[in-house]
Amino acid sequence: MRIDIISVVPKLMESFFGHSILKRGQEAGHAEVVLHDLRDYTTTKSRQVDDYAFGGGAGMVMLAEPIAKCIRQLQSEREYDEVIYMTPDGETFNQQTANSLSLGGNLIFLCGHYKGVDQRVRDMFITKEISIGDYVLSGGELAAAVCADAIIRLIPGVLNDETSALTDSFQDNLLAPPVYTRPAEFEGNKIPEVLLSGHEAKINEWRFEQSIERTKIRRPDLLGKTGLF
Ligand code: ADE
Repeated sequence: MRIDIISVVPKLMESFFGHSILKRGQEAGHAEVVLHDLRDYTTTKSRQVDDYAFGGGAGMVMLAEPIAKCIRQLQSEREYDEVIYMTPDGETFNQQTANSLSLGGNLIFLCGHYKGVDQRVRDMFITKEISIGDYVLSGGELAAAVCADAIIRLIPGVLNDETSALTDSFQDNLLAPPVYTRPAEFEGNKIPEVLLSGHEAKINEWRFEQSIERTKIRRPDLLGKTGLF
């Protein structure tokens, strides 16, 4: 999978994709993330990427031309499954969306800034619009990084223990159970006895019960989606 991210501040994301699991995923050839500076696709001397909104009002709007040029250039080089615009008025990102995008092929993420992009870019090129929550960020970069992280870690081979993504919170609409590591007693607090039993079935049962309890308390809205109740 290749993920291309178009931004006016690509440097903001360099360090994020150069570390940890995301770096390993790229080095092992599972996912390639390529950052594009929108200013490289401008045609004016001032490398202008935005202009005033027609009709007036506060805030600048991102120009259609450099974005169109960048997307067309990428699409002429390879096929893309989705051209995604990160925007607070998009559909809210969740684990299901991450799962389905991780199965597909190449993706383009367009990061909005200022008042957003010229509507004609959305009409002409964008196939999916994603928000990461009901709040407004100063740009789509962090949102694109969040989505790319959630997607890349699901690609088989990226995580060390391939089963670990399956037991994440939200994979079955249940929150993950508590986890413990050594020592078995920390400042007088002991771990649940069952985890030392070596009895796999009992441990799995305990984890499942804990998941249900945690979900009931913290996210009762999810329980209806589990199919268990
Ligand atoms: N750009 C600004 N705010 C955003 C959000 N909440 N989600 C995605 N992109 C954004």
